[in-house]
Amino acid sequence: MKGIILAGGHGSRLHPITLAVSKQLLPVNDKPLIYYPLSALMLADVRDVLIIALPGDIPQIRRLLGDGSHLGLSLSYAEQPVPEGLAQAFLIGAEHIGDDDVALVLGDNIFHGNGFYDLLATHRRDLDGCVLFGYPVTDPERYGVGEVDEDGRLVSLAEKPEKPRSNLAITGLYLYSNDVVEIARQVRPSPRGELEITDVNRVYLDAGRASLVSFGRGFAWLDAGTPESLLQAGQYVQTMEDRQGVRIACLEEIALRMGFIDAEACHRLGARLSRSGYGSYVMAVADEMRS
Ligand code: G1P
Repeated sequence: MKGIILAGGHGSRLHPITLAVSKQLLPVNDKPLIYYPLSALMLADVRDVLIIALPGDIPQIRRLLGDGSHLGLSLSYAEQPVPEGLAQAFLIGAEHIGDDDVALVLGDNIFHGNGFYDLLATHRRDLDGCVLFGYPVTDPERYGVGEVDEDGRLVSLAEKPEKPRSNLAITGLYLYSNDVVEIARQVRPSPRGELEITDVNRVYLDAGRASLVSFGRGFAWLDAGTPESLLQAGQYVQTMEDRQGVRIACLEEIALRMGFIDAEACHRLGARLSRSGYGSYVMAVADEMRS
């Protein structure tokens, strides 16, 4: 399975913060925002990832993550000059996807919780069509919204509806069979002039090939697209990390635990950052695995 991080957009809801820096590079507590969606793909055992961003943002993101080889990943970059909808990711990424299935994650989405790894492994294995992940929120009208029947089966999807039929937001993590590229090619732009991901998902729904997995209570899904949600995300991560002494979305740790790199390599990566708490943590994790 290939991965795509869509890190496009002007982050206009965060202006002036994002006038000179990409939203995905803003700090969420102790690390840049893009670490979080990348960690979700890594936990899904996806190692070949295309990062799509505005042309002007790519050099900085590349400076941060490089070609990913230090993490046992293969990262490549593609430009989205004008943000024209999330589904454009499949057109820009068609060559990258090739004959594979694909996981798409939005660059400002944060997922954290027990059982995430197992959930991803299960749904990745049984993939036929598309898998969406739902999360109950108090403001569903801000999101794609999924409606499920009594058996938990997905029955309708709507993008930012004025009158949501449920409180289940569709999160920014999506798993697709290879035919998503073909489907995205056939979808027409919405009245806003965008290739909506919800329209792609509706094609799968109509064909009986879409499933919705609900993240349960106790799971955290955060998006960091506004000053409030960015701050809340930072506070959440800070609280959890401080309390438990573990780091959320520590890429070096995940690469080590997933077997993408060995403890020696992990330690070296931590040593480069040893003056920060993050770097010390990476070294400690490596030491623990070595002993
Ligand atoms: C996009 C999608 C929406 C989804 C959301 C998740 O909205 O269009 O369906 O619920 O991401 O973050 P956007 O945040 O681009 O407005």
